Amino acid sequence: MAIRPLIAGNWKMHGRKTSLAELATIRDRVAAGETGGTEIVVCPPATLIAAAVETARGAVGIGGQDCHTNPEGAHTGDISAEMLADLGASYVILGHSERRTDHGETNPLVRAKVQAVWRAGLSAIVCIGETLAERNEGQTIEVVSWQLRESLPEGGRPSNLAIAYEPVWAIGSGLTPSPGDVAAVHGSIRDNLIRRHGPEAAGIRILYGGSVKPDNAATLLTAENVNGALVGGASLKASDFLAIAKVYS
Ligand code: PGA
Repeated sequence: MAIRPLIAGNWKMHGRKTSLAELATIRDRVAAGETGGTEIVVCPPATLIAAAVETARGAVGIGGQDCHTNPEGAHTGDISAEMLADLGASYVILGHSERRTDHGETNPLVRAKVQAVWRAGLSAIVCIGETLAERNEGQTIEVVSWQLRESLPEGGRPSNLAIAYEPVWAIGSGLTPSPGDVAAVHGSIRDNLIRRHGPEAAGIRILYGGSVKPDNAATLLTAENVNGALVGGASLKASDFLAIAKVYS
């Protein structure tokens, strides 16, 4: 079964209204067929989601970068999955290492957020990945398996779940694992997903993330069991993001 690749941009805490011009460029190139059959998603900060949905005109999917576990309530400053759905978002990134570090997010909390995203009818992009210390201790597979086991509820399917393997030490650093290392971790994630969620999990997209750039995308993203990318810094500039988004076309 051929898996439709997914390239998602994570703008993090970057972007003003003027940044929508980059999204408009991406939209036009995607609509012109330059990215082939690859699914293209941009996850801007929450302040831009409504305008981004309008700008994207359905050619590019729009996602949030986090959500609360509840649909509504007394949670000052938080945003629910239902609110993101109301704006026309289709994805939510969950468990990014920056949220795990900056906001103390734990695997059980990520798991509850995945359930919230599914409750709202959206798809979750769940991030996992080891620190440099864990890699140096030879614990990568163990850490990633534990994060998967604890962060995912039952019910993961290709239509509601993508996993992003993002080694913490590769995020924003310019460092990347070798394609062989990426393939080994993705292979183990694939085995885990199938054991847990059944044969259908063979179609769940497993994205690589961490310093994906136009010049390394072809090497990293064609490793075995890599079905796309979660792109941070390089997603802020349309030309860089598009160069990555064209990798499978
Ligand atoms: P980066 O970020 O591409 O800037 O390394 C990736 C991510 O954090 O999702």
